Amino acid sequence: MRKHWVLDPEYTYLNHGTVGAPPRRVLERQQALRDELERQPARFMLRELNGHQPAPWRAESRIREAARSVAGFLGARSEDLVFVPNVTTGLNAVLRSIPFAPGDEVVISDLAYGAIALAAGSAARERGATLRIAELPYPVRDPGDIVEAMTSALTPRTKLVLVDHITALTSLVMPVTAIVDECHARGVPVLVDGAHAPGSLALDIPSIGADWYVANLHKWAHAPRACGILWAAPDRQRDLHHPVVSWGFGQGFREEFEWNATNDPTCCLAAPEGVALLREWGFEAVLDYMHGLAWEAACVLADGWQTTLQAPRAMVGAMVTVPLSEAAGATDIDAARLRLALLVDDRIEVQLHAWRGRLWVRVSAQVYNDRSDMARLAEAVSRQLHAV
Ligand SMILES: Cc1ncc(COP(=O)(O)O)c(C=O)c1O
Repeated sequence: MRKHWVLDPEYTYLNHGTVGAPPRRVLERQQALRDELERQPARFMLRELNGHQPAPWRAESRIREAARSVAGFLGARSEDLVFVPNVTTGLNAVLRSIPFAPGDEVVISDLAYGAIALAAGSAARERGATLRIAELPYPVRDPGDIVEAMTSALTPRTKLVLVDHITALTSLVMPVTAIVDECHARGVPVLVDGAHAPGSLALDIPSIGADWYVANLHKWAHAPRACGILWAAPDRQRDLHHPVVSWGFGQGFREEFEWNATNDPTCCLAAPEGVALLREWGFEAVLDYMHGLAWEAACVLADGWQTTLQAPRAMVGAMVTVPLSEAAGATDIDAARLRLALLVDDRIEVQLHAWRGRLWVRVSAQVYNDRSDMARLAEAVSRQLHAV
């Protein structure tokens, strides 16, 4: 599968989840769109791109056409979904659209992505609300323990729960549907951060039952960067606003997000090509391969480093996080040193971080990886630690 990527063949790339890596065909599609755009920029951007000034020669605006294609892949209706540049923008849109009042609480977990925790805290504080952080069990034995920990953080003042579908540092596939059910039973709306989900899980967004679902397509769904989606339940769309006020303001959900100042839309317009590739390769087979390799890597690495896995297989998708031995270090500096040594000496790119007093390696298992990559990582880390 490696031939489908432009990735440097001299390097072992085990960090797909961080910023994605679009396949060649997607990049070619994006370049073709750029070429087309630049032949008639105003026509493309003003008359064809969004529905505001519909061109008589198009049945559908270009952005709606792309939205329809990716919505199908996510089990959603295209009218409930808009493109955003990334998860951070989409989550900020929701967080800033909710009229929190003094005393209200926003619940997130202690496994939430750092930038998103900052955004949630800032949106809450600006309106006198507070951020409550649910402490989740880790190591985790059963997804039900996570649901219980999230639920026990709810109070009568909770106005929003923000939960990751797949956590960033610990790469846990969270029981989001069960969390939504518990929150809804208490009248609390739920916003899901699905940064890593599209393309790494079989995803049917509406069936989760959340109020809002935000995701990146530029990680595992093979869209070019910067392409994310914001899905909102129909009854949540009217009060949802783009964090940047522009021409579409007050014109409705889709207009507001699609008629929003000038940007390069080709990443979103090329997103259907990423979906098409996944379908051509056989999406189920892709998922099986990635998950199988991630789990095999987890076992091989933990065995090689003599550490213990912290989550059950049922909570692993296409990424897995494995602890290093305590002797490997505990600080950000220890993590940075080892990450750099792996990159420079061993030509291995992998996510490696300090968290809760020890070092962790997060491995992405993409279809261009195989078990020899995992063996190389296992051996290189052991050698680097031995050399210290
Ligand atoms: C769980 C999670 N949320 C949010 C983000 C932020 O993504 P972006 O920088 O594309 O907005 C990431 C990035 O890796 C993530 O892992």
